[in-house]
Amino acid sequence: MPNNIDSNTVNNLTPIAQRTLNQINTPISAIGLGCMGMSEFYGDSDDAQSLALLDKAIEIGINFFDTADTYGLGHNETLLGQCLAKHHTQRDKLVIATKFGIVREQGKYERRLDNSPAYIETACNASLKRLGVECIDLYYCHRRDHDTPLEVMMDALAKLVKQGKIKGIGLSEVSSDTLRQAHAIHPITAVQSEYSLWSRTPESDLLPTCRELGVNFVAYSPLGRAFLTGKLDTNDLPDNDFRQHLPRLQGEQLNQNQQLIAKFSQLASQWGYSNAQLCLAWILGKYPHVIPIAGTRQQKYLLENANATAIELTPTQISQLDDLFNPEKVAGQRYPDAGWVGIEK
Ligand SMILES: NC(=O)c1ccc[n+]([C@@H]2O[C@H](COP(=O)([O-])OP(=O)(O)OC[C@H]3O[C@@H](n4cnc5c(N)ncnc54)[C@H](OP(=O)(O)O)[C@@H]3O)[C@@H](O)[C@H]2O)c1
Repeated sequence: MPNNIDSNTVNNLTPIAQRTLNQINTPISAIGLGCMGMSEFYGDSDDAQSLALLDKAIEIGINFFDTADTYGLGHNETLLGQCLAKHHTQRDKLVIATKFGIVREQGKYERRLDNSPAYIETACNASLKRLGVECIDLYYCHRRDHDTPLEVMMDALAKLVKQGKIKGIGLSEVSSDTLRQAHAIHPITAVQSEYSLWSRTPESDLLPTCRELGVNFVAYSPLGRAFLTGKLDTNDLPDNDFRQHLPRLQGEQLNQNQQLIAKFSQLASQWGYSNAQLCLAWILGKYPHVIPIAGTRQQKYLLENANATAIELTPTQISQLDDLFNPEKVAGQRYPDAGWVGIEK
């Protein structure tokens, strides 16, 4: 069993386990890399550092990358595009997921949603251009816009599949009803929703539905946006860090959640792993059809997280963690009010 790794040398890396993604022939690393923080939401970032991190990810065998057109309003896709241009000879081994549907203005968190066919076509062409690829492996509807009927949106996406502009269709933060209806129109490759020790809503319905339909589930913010790692200094978040606004990180709710983290950190060190590794191993151990996408800008975290794919928790350890983070013990909502736009329950 690998132990807590904090060195940033590849020598300490255990082989990265792989998983499969429906409709995508390329096997993917069992954890993907979330690129969002390289452009916005978590304070300042540095493009040179991000590009070096992307190189390192490819070097160690991480080949599933998650971005969206809205992250940094195109910046994130352009950054990933620079990396893909450098590694163009390996394009067929890399699986790129991006998203459409959230429309924002520069510097503003508030958003409107657009799933109309005209918007989808324009957004897809713009993403292809920024990424510098001929085909997007997995193209998600980031949030459902209920002014556009589901059939109309799905037909527009199926058209992109036929044109060879996208391979797989994904849906983010949808209900299992929407998933069932969409999957009946065209096979869905993956659903992406927030899922982690402290965000467990998908367990009751969405995760079993994905499994039943043979749809992958991509778990975003698997480290609780860093809070679960025990390394987030909530007193020192810069103005441009969205986590300042998370209800779970405010006042009494923060105090209560910090008590959970203290117990979690104790358990993790007792078992010989980092908190982050335990967050990822818990997800991988529970569900074979789930792929967590952890976000990082730091090589030491990338390697530490990659090593989590080799951890095999026992069923007893998994249920201990299930109980520790029983949803009733977690205080506060996972999003501020403005963040709930388009999230289906
Ligand atoms: N579909 C959606 O609506 C949606 C919403 C949110 C996110 N996402 C996707 O999901 C991806 C991952 O989610 P996320 O970035 O929000 O949250 P996350 O993966 O839960 O956490 C990322 C944070 O954890 C820190 N971190 C990573 N590894 C660590 C480690 N081993 N030890 C300590 N800290 C560590 C990162 O710090 P550094 O950055 O400093 O390394 C970053 O602050 C995003 O990048 C994005 O692609 C999708």
